[in-house]
Amino acid sequence: MKTAFSKMVVAPPGPKAQEIIQKEKNYIPRSACSSTPLVWKEAYGATIIDVDGNEYIDFTSGILVSNVGHSHPKVVAAIQEQAGKFLNSYDSSHHLRAELAEKIVNLFPEELNRVLLLTTGSEAIEAAIKFARAKTGKSEIISFHGSFHGRTHLTMSLGGIKKVKSGCGPQASNILHVPFPYPYRCTFSQPHDQCDEHTLQYMEQILHTASTGNIAAVIMESYLGSGGCVVPSVKFVQGVREFCDRHDILLIMDEVQAGFGRTGKMFGFEHYGILPDLVCLAKGISSGVPTSAVVGRDSIMDHLPPGTMTSTYGGNPLSCAAAMATIDVIVEERLPERAARLGERMAQRFQTLVEKYRIIGEARSIGLVSGIEVVKSREGREPDPETARAIAMQAIHLGLAVIAPTGLHGNVLRLMPPLVIEEEALEAGLDLLDEAISIVLNGGLHDH
Ligand SMILES: Cc1ncc(COP(=O)(O)O)c(C=O)c1O
Repeated sequence: MKTAFSKMVVAPPGPKAQEIIQKEKNYIPRSACSSTPLVWKEAYGATIIDVDGNEYIDFTSGILVSNVGHSHPKVVAAIQEQAGKFLNSYDSSHHLRAELAEKIVNLFPEELNRVLLLTTGSEAIEAAIKFARAKTGKSEIISFHGSFHGRTHLTMSLGGIKKVKSGCGPQASNILHVPFPYPYRCTFSQPHDQCDEHTLQYMEQILHTASTGNIAAVIMESYLGSGGCVVPSVKFVQGVREFCDRHDILLIMDEVQAGFGRTGKMFGFEHYGILPDLVCLAKGISSGVPTSAVVGRDSIMDHLPPGTMTSTYGGNPLSCAAAMATIDVIVEERLPERAARLGERMAQRFQTLVEKYRIIGEARSIGLVSGIEVVKSREGREPDPETARAIAMQAIHLGLAVIAPTGLHGNVLRLMPPLVIEEEALEAGLDLLDEAISIVLNGGLHDH
């Protein structure tokens, strides 16, 4: 199928792409090599152009970073302007850091009045745990099965996906994992509406069993991202907040994937009517110049003495310029509202796919991020990672950029276009996805 928003001139990886992939393989460890054949050359808005001239509709947002679209002119201009002035001041003050801090804090309810600027999502998670432990004087952290918080020692240990940490030696201590309510595959074999309740009861139980009575914080994503786009209910998240309040435990929300409009609200926690104590931000905050942040209450974040929690590149001028321009675009272009509106359309189209293809067990969305659970059979719900991967590869061949399937079993196709995607491009991308599924079910890869 041809679309007005994609153009395939050679099957990916084309000759130039193959050369680059091979060179990377010669020097970069396997753990960091790309698992799709798309080798980027340029990207604008919701279009990615590869090194061989193929043009793709982007359903990745560069893994949820480019919420405002690739190379947004205002973001590019801000970076260019700042690059000619100064790039580094270590942690000395500068006006951009002060202005960005104010801008970020103003996006939050008034109780959350401090922000620490850092560089990566993992660094923000590490910092939030450090703040929580320092403030409470306690050390245990509750985290969820299927969660993803990064790949450093502490963050992989916090995560609940075996693949990320398997074979990597002893994990960080004092982490208590509990099931996440994943009704399609409920740990407690309960129907949808009761999966939440059982999980909350389980959390109470571990207070008297696995825990030594020393719990500093619960850390949770506002939807399980890498775990397969599993969206918790309002009742569950409110239940977690109440659990924390009852037992004097801090609640840390990992908004690294959910933040900056992706879910249809500026931050994912806003869907649940709760206020976290600490919030971790990254990815969509600055459109690709490495930036992350922890936002929280001054009573928690001012607890650590000067010099004990900062970082060389945190709040560097280039990140600040990129983040300020990005946030301005998100607000000016009302991107959270746009994500909610386009997300509804995407969810409707997925329901059509669920009806059409029996290999789709369930489609889940929140705003403009979705997960399609690919299964061997509707009845048995057995995960089918091979078919999921074949669909992803076929989609790329057709001109739809997607990431490799994720989820606990590697069988969830995750789709997340930039929030600025044109409606017609969104529809065209969904048509390509439909075609990719159909081709795979009829026997496999067809080059276009
Ligand atoms: C929910 C979540 N938390 C934390 C991280 C870690 O971020 P980074 O890769 O920037 O360290 C990620 C990265 O994908 C993430 O999705």
